Amino acid sequence: MSLEITALDAGYGPVPVLRDVSLQVNANEAVAIVGSNGAGKTTLVRAICGLSTPTSGKICFDGQDITYHAGHLRPKTGIAVVLETRGLFGELTVSDNLRIAEVSGINVARPAGFQHFTLEDVFNLFPVVREKKDTRVELLSGGQQQMVAVARALLLQPRLLILDELTTGLAPKVVQEILLALAALRTRGMSLLIIEQNIKLAATMTDRAYVMSLGKVVYEIGHGGWEQALADDVLTKAYLHG
Ligand SMILES: Nc1ncnc2c1ncn2[C@@H]1O[C@H](COP(=O)(O)OP(=O)(O)OP(=O)(O)O)[C@@H](O)[C@H]1O
Ligand SMILES: [Mg+2]
Repeated sequence: MSLEITALDAGYGPVPVLRDVSLQVNANEAVAIVGSNGAGKTTLVRAICGLSTPTSGKICFDGQDITYHAGHLRPKTGIAVVLETRGLFGELTVSDNLRIAEVSGINVARPAGFQHFTLEDVFNLFPVVREKKDTRVELLSGGQQQMVAVARALLLQPRLLILDELTTGLAPKVVQEILLALAALRTRGMSLLIIEQNIKLAATMTDRAYVMSLGKVVYEIGHGGWEQALADDVLTKAYLHG
C-alpha cells in the first residue's frame, strides 16, 4: 500500500484551500495530520476520497493516478474513510448499516494474503457494536455511532483507513477502546491516516505526522520524532497561525 500526494491544490468552487500539499503514507504506517480548525485537514481528506476535485496536483495509490477517479470507486481501490459527519443511516439498525458495507466489500480484489474483515471480526473489535446490532443507529450515543462508523469502514476491506477526528467528544474510556482497536488493525497490516486535534493523542496513535496550517503542510514530524515535537514550540506556532 502506498498513498502519494504531490503538490495538491484544492478548494470549494473558486475558493482555494489546499496549497501545494505533498505527503505520503506507506505500507503498515499510521500517519497523523494535525492542525488548527480551518487548516484544511478535512478538505484534504475529501480530496483523497474523491469527494472534491483538486484543481492541480496528483494523488496516487499504489502507483496508480486516482486524482480524478470518482469517489464511489475509492473502496474498490482500497481506501475507506470515516468522515466527521459519520454518514450512517440513522433509521436503519446497526446490522443493516454494516450489511450495506459488507455487500460493497464482498467483491473487492485484494492482494494475496489480505485478511478480509468479517462481521464477527468487527464485533470482536467493538463488542458494543455487537450488543447494539439490532438497535436503530439514531438511538445510539455519539461514541457508539463512531464505533459503528469504523466497523462499517472496515467491512469495505480497506488497505488504507482514514479517520477524520474520530475521538472528538468521546469519553476517555471510549477513546481507549478505539485506541486498542486501531492497534489491532495495525497488526493486520492496515495503514492509517488519522486526523486528530489532540496532538498528545495523535502521538500515541501514529508513527509520524504532518502539521497543517492555512492549507499548507508547514511541518513534518518524522519516525520517532513525536517526543521532540511535543516539546518543540514549532507545533504550537503552527497552531497559533491557524
Ligand atoms: N463546503 C465548504 N464550502 C466553502 N468553504 C469551505 C467548505 N468547507 C470548508 N471550507 C473552508 O475551507 C477551509 C478549511 O476547512 P477544513 O474543513 O478543511 O478545515 P479542518 O482543518 O478540517 O478544520 P476542523 O479542525 O475545524 O475540522 C476553511 O477556511 C473553511 O471555511
Ligand atoms: Mg475537519
